[in-house]
Amino acid sequence: MCGIYGEVGRGDVLKNAIDGLKALEYRGYDSAGIAFFNELQRIKVTKQKGMVASLEAKAGVDRWATRCPLSDPLDYNAVIAHTRWATHGKPASKNSHPFKQGRFVVAHNGIIENYKEFKTELENRFIFQSETDSEVIAALLEEEYSKLWDSQFTVDEFEEGFIDILTRENKDMTLEAIYNVSKKLKGAYALAILSEDVPNTIFATTNNPPLIVGSHGDATSTFVVTSDEAALPANSQIYRLKPGEIATLDDNAIKIYESTGEGVAPKGDPLFQPIQAKQQPSKDGYPHFMKKEINEIEKSLRATLESKDTEQFKRVNEFLKTADTIYLSACGTAYHACLLGKHYIEKNLGKQVVAEVASELRYMEHVGVALEGDPHKVAAIFVSQSGETADTIAAAELFKKQGAKIITITNNPNSTLANLSDEVININAGKEVAVAATKSFTSQAFAFNLLTGDTCVNCLEPFFAEAKRLQENTTQIKELVEKYKKVKNIFFIGRLADYATSKEASLKLKEISYIHSEAYQAGELKHGTIALIESKSVVCAIITDPKIKDKTMNAVYEVKARGAKTIVISPFTELKDNAVVDDFIEIRNVMHDLIPILSVIPMFNFAYYFSKQRGIDPDKPRNLAKSVTVE
Ligand code: AGP
Ligand code: GLU
Repeated sequence: MCGIYGEVGRGDVLKNAIDGLKALEYRGYDSAGIAFFNELQRIKVTKQKGMVASLEAKAGVDRWATRCPLSDPLDYNAVIAHTRWATHGKPASKNSHPFKQGRFVVAHNGIIENYKEFKTELENRFIFQSETDSEVIAALLEEEYSKLWDSQFTVDEFEEGFIDILTRENKDMTLEAIYNVSKKLKGAYALAILSEDVPNTIFATTNNPPLIVGSHGDATSTFVVTSDEAALPANSQIYRLKPGEIATLDDNAIKIYESTGEGVAPKGDPLFQPIQAKQQPSKDGYPHFMKKEINEIEKSLRATLESKDTEQFKRVNEFLKTADTIYLSACGTAYHACLLGKHYIEKNLGKQVVAEVASELRYMEHVGVALEGDPHKVAAIFVSQSGETADTIAAAELFKKQGAKIITITNNPNSTLANLSDEVININAGKEVAVAATKSFTSQAFAFNLLTGDTCVNCLEPFFAEAKRLQENTTQIKELVEKYKKVKNIFFIGRLADYATSKEASLKLKEISYIHSEAYQAGELKHGTIALIESKSVVCAIITDPKIKDKTMNAVYEVKARGAKTIVISPFTELKDNAVVDDFIEIRNVMHDLIPILSVIPMFNFAYYFSKQRGIDPDKPRNLAKSVTVE
């Protein structure tokens, strides 16, 4: 994960870099850093634990202290910056990027899996400041470049004098060093690199994680590199680097080099695409993005329906009906949408479905077996709000390589995942900023229902109206939060579709309120977990299916008998008066098949108000990032 932003140009490149980083904070926000050339063409690195705002203040001070000419309209300058989501080494200033070793400075997105073997070997010659996997890249570059530098000389030539025997340009040697080091690295990396031997030039490369190069808005001679176009103003022209390509950005141009063995060869002009004007996300008067996004659920559900491409849905539906095997895969909340998708496909199409989290699926052996048959009869549906989740992309690539048809359900039709897919279903839920996914979940689940059911699309008004009522109706939810504010454990139970939404309700509560919570199939509780139930426990049962209503209620009786407080979320109002139900949240019985989607809305509000009650920022909870772009 993490966001990389670099810029070369005239004007206030430092300010642009800080603004760019702020737009990338959804990718990680535990620490940030920035590197720029000072007036002596040495590179100054400034780092700070915490969010970009705290780096901004520190970098401002360092900029004047080093007399860095960053806003001089006559001078070109290069800056690279990074906002981190720690994988190796705790969030701390010393572990923040960029890292400097010798003349090289590196900002890295990804994980270097073989960093230890290099670190052990390099420790004789370099002093490492951090615990990260990333710092070795800077040391490897320094080492490789030094070797290339030395190899220019022969003894005879050396005697002829230093100037005469410089046979290669520093820039070419840097490119070759980057190329050679890339071949050694295992894992995933997108890199922005500076070298004191090539002032005011940024080098950038990736072996997969997204990295974009382009212009900064209308400025024709300000060039940028970034993990996501979200960091760029409208009218920027962008090019997505392909794995193995190396870009250079200097005061003149962006050049792309292909890795072609003998050093690196220029590729010629890549195709730059303009990006559309984007509205900066706004809270529209809400205290948090999360609350705004919960209150947009109804609107997003309508937008999902509106963006439905009938022909495409028919095509995918037919394909699912004839497929030998159907896989659904995603991470986190999107995986819970897959669990609802599994429910809809199995119930409505009568086909069995394998739903696995992507980080597991990519290593499962049965995948290979399924694909050994006729891969064209394997349907693989991947779900991702961002379309940039590394595990989901890797799982999709695995299926794609074997010839399976890739179907993606996403909120970002321009994403890496969408780009590799055969069918892209755009849920069209609108920008989701809060780390906790809400409206994307309900829209993903709705898309599955539309894909597989024979939902009467003209009968959906009561469904939308109920979504609106639930998203806005918070009085009862706030009372529940107040009532249970001291609770240490909350269990969610349900069966089939209600188990999927129980898992989602539980995840939401955990991630933004830090309350311990677990979700169980209601019938499974008695096989062990019930040992945890005591008088202070709260058990929330989601009950939306008439067929299994009484079965789930059995579990409510069982936990009540052991002293738990119980909340039931259900359309079955007769349960309200049942003595074992302490609190009842009613979902109005609109369309039976769609009730599970609605049942999670009160729990989004529950998690949100719990988070607020505990003084947590629900938009930026600890340890998390909106989009997880590392394995
Ligand atoms: C949701 O609340 C989470 N923060 C997280 O589980 C998220 O759903 C997951 O990382 C997948 O993201 P994606 O949908 O962008 O792929
Ligand atoms: N693995 C690196 C680290 O822990 C980079 C993580 C990231 O992509 O933010 O610093």
